Amino acid sequence: MPIAGDFARRLPKAELHLHIEGSLEPELMFALARRNRIALPFPNVEAVRAAYEFSRLQDFLDIYYQGARVLVTDEDFHDLALAYFRKAAADGVVHAEIFFDPQTHTERGVPIGVVIAGLVSAQKTAAVELGLTSKLILCLLRHLDEDAGIATLREAEPYLEHLTGVGLDSSELGHPPSKFVRAYDRARAMGLKTVAHAGEEGPPEYVWEALDLLKVDRIDHGNRALEDPALVARLAAEGMTLTVCPLSNLKLCVVDDMALHPLRRMLDLGLKATVNSDDPAFFGGYVGANFTAVDDALDLTPAEITTLVRNSFTGSFLSEAQVSKHLVAVDNAVVA
Ligand code: HPA
Ligand code: ZN
Repeated sequence: MPIAGDFARRLPKAELHLHIEGSLEPELMFALARRNRIALPFPNVEAVRAAYEFSRLQDFLDIYYQGARVLVTDEDFHDLALAYFRKAAADGVVHAEIFFDPQTHTERGVPIGVVIAGLVSAQKTAAVELGLTSKLILCLLRHLDEDAGIATLREAEPYLEHLTGVGLDSSELGHPPSKFVRAYDRARAMGLKTVAHAGEEGPPEYVWEALDLLKVDRIDHGNRALEDPALVARLAAEGMTLTVCPLSNLKLCVVDDMALHPLRRMLDLGLKATVNSDDPAFFGGYVGANFTAVDDALDLTPAEITTLVRNSFTGSFLSEAQVSKHLVAVDNAVVA
């Protein structure tokens, strides 16, 4: 009888894989479209939700980039991020490391400084009002070329104090990590942590490249790493964090059925998996719903849930002292 989903909801946790543009709920999309006088290709909120049927990553990305066009001012980015932080806090999230896609906005003429100002303002509000801490990870769009990514890193330099890391997202197949070696060298030279989406649709080789060529600190998704025992051994030996996104995997057909989700197998293999929501407005729920969905399908034990939640802190970019403090809070909540 899956009760662990409720148990998971009440534990303090970190979210490590969340695209802020993917938290744009249709209601806010329409409100911002009105505010900015932008036409949407949908008559109403119900029609937007009805369009969220995907058979692969690209189907989703096409609609996700459409929706992001309503984000124009720093206030829009503030409202977007604060809405996410409130939903996350309601699911027990006390720390979030969120992705944003500057190129989706700069190519429409929205300056990167406007995007970052809005996000930073929401981070400050969330810290004060919700006690929720957060970090920003700038993602490069892998369907664009590496020089465009390097130019984006250059544009971000004046705002470096607000950034923690660099990531790689968008269309994975045909755009291997090896395409971004110079960009990642530059990101590390800027003092940034590095993560990359790998093994969501792409083969295990892309995960090897993310490790060996991009020297990442975390792998986002990583599902297809399970096809390669040597890679699994490497990830386990290094204690590499995988930011797994169960509802995303189901919606994008990375898994055919939640009962077949590899989350338990990952833990059994000694992999440091975490549970995250990816693009919650598009995939059917925030981190609490992701825990509930895998728990309903796999009947996770309280010990497994606790491991997943502990991994979210030990895999975060918080300081050791902050991680220790959160782990004590997890232990206290487990016995409460
Ligand atoms: N995969 C790749 N790119 C993305 C995703 C994802 O799940 N969400 C937003 N950009
Ligand atoms: Zn993602």
